[in-house]
Amino acid sequence: MGYRIALNFEDGATRFIDCNAGEKVLDAAYRQQVNLPMDCSDGVCGTCKCRCEQGKYDLGDDYSEETLTEDETEEGFVLTCQMVPCSDCVIRVPVPSTACKLAPAEHSGEVSALELVSDSTIVFKLKLDRPETLSFLPGQYVNLGVPGTSQRRAYSFSSKPGAAEVSFLIRNVPGGLMSGWLTHEAKPGARMSFIGPNGSFFLRAVTRPVVMLAGGTGLAPLLSMLEVLTDEGTDQPIHLIYGVTRDDDMVEIERIEALAARLVTFTWTMTVADPESAHPLKGYVTHHLSDVHLNGGDVDVYLCGPPPMVEAVRAFLRDKGVAPAHFFYEKFAASEAVPA
Ligand SMILES: Cc1cc2nc3c(=O)[nH]c(=O)nc-3n(C[C@H](O)[C@H](O)[C@H](O)COP(=O)(O)OP(=O)(O)OC[C@H]3O[C@@H](n4cnc5c(N)ncnc54)[C@H](O)[C@@H]3O)c2cc1C
Ligand code: FES
Repeated sequence: MGYRIALNFEDGATRFIDCNAGEKVLDAAYRQQVNLPMDCSDGVCGTCKCRCEQGKYDLGDDYSEETLTEDETEEGFVLTCQMVPCSDCVIRVPVPSTACKLAPAEHSGEVSALELVSDSTIVFKLKLDRPETLSFLPGQYVNLGVPGTSQRRAYSFSSKPGAAEVSFLIRNVPGGLMSGWLTHEAKPGARMSFIGPNGSFFLRAVTRPVVMLAGGTGLAPLLSMLEVLTDEGTDQPIHLIYGVTRDDDMVEIERIEALAARLVTFTWTMTVADPESAHPLKGYVTHHLSDVHLNGGDVDVYLCGPPPMVEAVRAFLRDKGVAPAHFFYEKFAASEAVPA
């Protein structure tokens, strides 16, 4: 039996490889033209040291303890020249993908659905040409090309991995290049391409309560994670607080309700910042983040939204003196102009 190994590089790029039963990660990577850093391949030099963020594995006892200390193994550090996976794994590689001679992975497809679900938000789906070539971790993003231009924009998948059709939840930025194309020109059947997957904002193994905080379309990667959690099931409480600016920004409510109906440990609430809102809960997500949810710090927090919201939540936790066991966040910053 083989395993799927996600290699998450320093520059945010992720590449998946297959590892056969009993095969070392370094050998599997080379077999699939991924030149991971290495020198001795004997567990002595430490050049191949990476960190395994998820999954089970065996390191054997043929490596030097000076190269990989006991403290390091406890923190998840591994030598890929010794590591034999016993499950699917996610490995953080401390060099850029280009240093491993990896060309960016490009995927293409056609627009299969496009809906302006409110003035501020667009939901769109892409039917992939070769779905079997795309793997990603729930929560990751891609750089989508704006058709007819040489520009790319970053968007997170709101769909779960493994489907032939991927979906996105996109803020309609006034005057925005991609926003303008999607609202004025895009039609079902239009061709699009993207590069990725990228990013280290992805769902880790759930071993304690989880709090998810979404600001606006920052809901997208959390939906992808929730789809996976719902399919796999968990005994741990998962609580989502979804904050938007105006009533009009509330989207995907039916989808969240359907997830809550399927996953009994999942609860959620939403809040609108606009004081004029008709919604019963008002204010920012931090106004509705209780001590019960923070569980004395024994909680994994996933936070995604515009940069000021992410900073506000970080300051809130700092001022409260709460240091979550894990704190993962993604800032939906305005994309730099990224040439295609
Ligand atoms: C890792 C990552 C993942 C992302 N995922 C998503 C996602 O799933 N959904 C989503 O809606 N957005 C997401 N974003 C944000 C998205 O990439 C930008 O909003 C995007 O630039 C908008 O493209 P555009 O062509 O419509 O506007 P642009 O032509 O890029 O921008 C037009 C003008 O609006 C400003 N602007 C652009 N975006 C924003 C913004 N978000 N807030 C304030 N001002 C802005 C620009 O500075 C510029 O002045 C993500 C960003 C990052 C970094
Ligand atoms: S390559 Fe030298 S320790 Fe792995």
